Amino acid sequence: PRGGTVAVLGRSYDTDDVTNVTPHILGLVGRQLHNQEHHPLWLIKERIKDFFYKSFTNRRGNPLFSVYDALPPVVTLEQNFDSLLVPPGHPSRRRSDSYYVSGRHMLRAHTSAHQRDLVRSGLNAFLVAGDVYRRDAVDSTHYPAFHQLEGVRLFDRHSLFAEVQGSGAEGLRLFESGARTPLKQETHTMEAVKLTEFNLKETLQGLMGYLFGEGVQWRWVDCTFPFTHPSFEMEVLHHGSWLEVLGCGVMEQRILDGAGAADRVGWAFGVGLERLAMVLYGIPDIRLFWSSNEHFLRQFRIDSIHTPIHFQAFSKYPPLVNDVSFWLPPDGYEENDFHELVRSLAGDLVESITLADDYVDKTTGRRSHCYRITYRHMEKTLTQQEVAVLHERVGRAAQTQLGVIGRF
Ligand code: PHE
Repeated sequence: PRGGTVAVLGRSYDTDDVTNVTPHILGLVGRQLHNQEHHPLWLIKERIKDFFYKSFTNRRGNPLFSVYDALPPVVTLEQNFDSLLVPPGHPSRRRSDSYYVSGRHMLRAHTSAHQRDLVRSGLNAFLVAGDVYRRDAVDSTHYPAFHQLEGVRLFDRHSLFAEVQGSGAEGLRLFESGARTPLKQETHTMEAVKLTEFNLKETLQGLMGYLFGEGVQWRWVDCTFPFTHPSFEMEVLHHGSWLEVLGCGVMEQRILDGAGAADRVGWAFGVGLERLAMVLYGIPDIRLFWSSNEHFLRQFRIDSIHTPIHFQAFSKYPPLVNDVSFWLPPDGYEENDFHELVRSLAGDLVESITLADDYVDKTTGRRSHCYRITYRHMEKTLTQQEVAVLHERVGRAAQTQLGVIGRF
């Protein structure tokens, strides 16, 4: 809406006709699941950090990669697109694909939005973990907010060719003035690209081996990104089908040139944390990451990030699904409070709570939420009579404790 403002993480932004963020999506901003101790996404992030800390140290024995996991998710369109050479008119810029705060700011669609700025700050190796937002269909593997971990590593001539010995090693160069081919950029030498690509793939294969053990099947697929060339995707075999878990490639030299790193070449990757966790632990539904389901969360409360998790899939006893709808109070309503309330009343019997409907009545301006609550017992089949009692109690408690008006 033109002329209004929207508040995100304590900052106010003027809205315009590009704005398409919704209260529901803004309610997810700031949750930072990847920074909540013992959350499965936190656990995956910690394990990836551990791999990089152990595998790569500098001459003084300190970790080579610095980690950023609290960069705010509101970025400029310039950061999310232009800084990465995403051309005007590229499909990813469509209003139907991203969440815009305004024509100038958006919720980042990928952690790559921070690449250029972190390189410019002088870093040669870093990881960025964060929440990212995309307008996607909601199903068992897609959710409009998810989490990525980005990695970037730069090499100067000495560090890239350090291991190469023998006659001719002296003459190795990073740059030349040539032609762009499917294998390399115009300014890169073939030897610089091959070593960078080799290092990238070895690093990511090492990471997958570390996370999954040797038992996982993966493959490399060629692809394209505006900010890397050549580019690759890694797919992992999951329940008989190939699931894309990361994108990566040799960074476009123009990005590095513009970020004060014209004397270096680099690789970058971006991995989806939910995808990894779903494959690793056999998690059946992406929405579980956002839920307060105790049966789910308590399985990740382990003493050490190295303790193996034997994730127990949910019981086969049938679920019972009940909806509850109410008008929200004019202000002060927090969805989390409702989750909390249901959990306090129904305990382990509630498997998930999802917002099934969120709309504003045009004439009265009142907002209504409908929640779909899935009840399921871990050890027996629940009857609808048992659940009905509980469900009614939830509705009544919401009225008295949260100030909502029931539509039941
Ligand atoms: N940003 C890309 C995505 O979200 C992934 C990527 C990161 C690809 C870094 C190449 C390099 O799909």
